[in-house]
Amino acid sequence: METIEVPQFEESILLQKRRAKADSLAWGLRNECAVFFDALKEGRDVREQKLFELLGQFVTQVQASPEVWLERVFDSVPNQYRRDFLVEHSLNVAIMAVALARDWSVDGKELLLLAAGALLHDVGMMSVGPAILDAPRSLTPEERAQVERHPAVGSAWLERLRLKRDLVEMVRQEHERVDGSGYPDRLKGAAIGRLARLVGLCDTIESVTHVRPHRAARPFVEACHTLIKESPDIFPRAVWMTALRRLTLYPPGSRVRLTTGKLARVVLCNPGHPMRPVVEFIDASEPATERPHLVDLRLNPMMSIREVLA
Ligand SMILES: [Fe+2]
Ligand SMILES: [Fe+2]
Repeated sequence: METIEVPQFEESILLQKRRAKADSLAWGLRNECAVFFDALKEGRDVREQKLFELLGQFVTQVQASPEVWLERVFDSVPNQYRRDFLVEHSLNVAIMAVALARDWSVDGKELLLLAAGALLHDVGMMSVGPAILDAPRSLTPEERAQVERHPAVGSAWLERLRLKRDLVEMVRQEHERVDGSGYPDRLKGAAIGRLARLVGLCDTIESVTHVRPHRAARPFVEACHTLIKESPDIFPRAVWMTALRRLTLYPPGSRVRLTTGKLARVVLCNPGHPMRPVVEFIDASEPATERPHLVDLRLNPMMSIREVLA
C-alpha cells in the first residue's frame, strides 16, 4: 500500500528541536513550581517573579507549538502513581489551558493569568498529608472534607503573597461548578469566573486520564464520553465542544495501533478530521534510522487507527 507522508527530514528535525526546547523549559518550570509550593506550605517568604518569568516563556512556547506540549500530557497515560504527582498534574493542567486558550477567546493579558491560575490551582493540596493523598482507597467523609478545603487554603496562601485578586479568586473557584455542585462556596452559573471554569474543565480531564492511588487512568475518549454523559450540566456544552474539536478523539501523545498493526504516536491533530491525525511510527520493528516516521492519516485513507493503547 502506498502511503503519503509528511515531508520527512525537515519535519522530523523540527519536531525533535521543539521537543528538546519544551523539555528544557518544562524542567525549569517544574523545579521552580516545586520550590514555590514548598515555600507556601512552610509559610516561608517566596518571590513569584522567577516563576512568572518562566510562565511568560511557557505561554509563548505553548501557543507556538501546542502539540509538542500536549504530547507531555497524553503520552502513554502513566500507569504508575507518583508521589510527587502534584507538580506534574499542575503543569499538565496549565499546558491544556494555554493550548486551548485561543479557541476559548482568551488572549493578551488574560493568557498569563490563565496559565498562572492553572499552574497554581492545586497549591492548597500541599496542606493535605500523604496519608490521605496516597490512600489507595476511597476517602472517609472527614478526609474528603479536608481535601475539599484545598481551594480555600491555596487562595489564602496566594493572597498572603499579595498576588492579583483575579488570580487568587480563580484558585478559590476552580472546583466550583455551574450547577452549584462544586466547592468551597457552592457558587452557581455566572458567579464563577470564566477562567476558573476553563481551568476546572482541564483539571477534570487531566485527573480522569491519569492514575491515582485509588483508581486507574482512563483513555481520553472514554473519559470525555463518561464526563459528558454523567454530568452534562457541570461544564458549558460550548466549552466542551471547543476542547474536543481541538484535541479530537486522539490528542497529541496518544499511543495507538494502526490497522497495519504498527504502533504509532499521535503528533498532530487534524481539526475537522477527528479520527485522522498525523502520527509518528514508534514500532520497535522500524529501523531506528527510519524513525520518527511521520504519516498524515488524513491523506492515507487506507490506513487508520485500530485502538488506543493504555
Ligand atoms: Fe484541586
Ligand atoms: Fe487539580
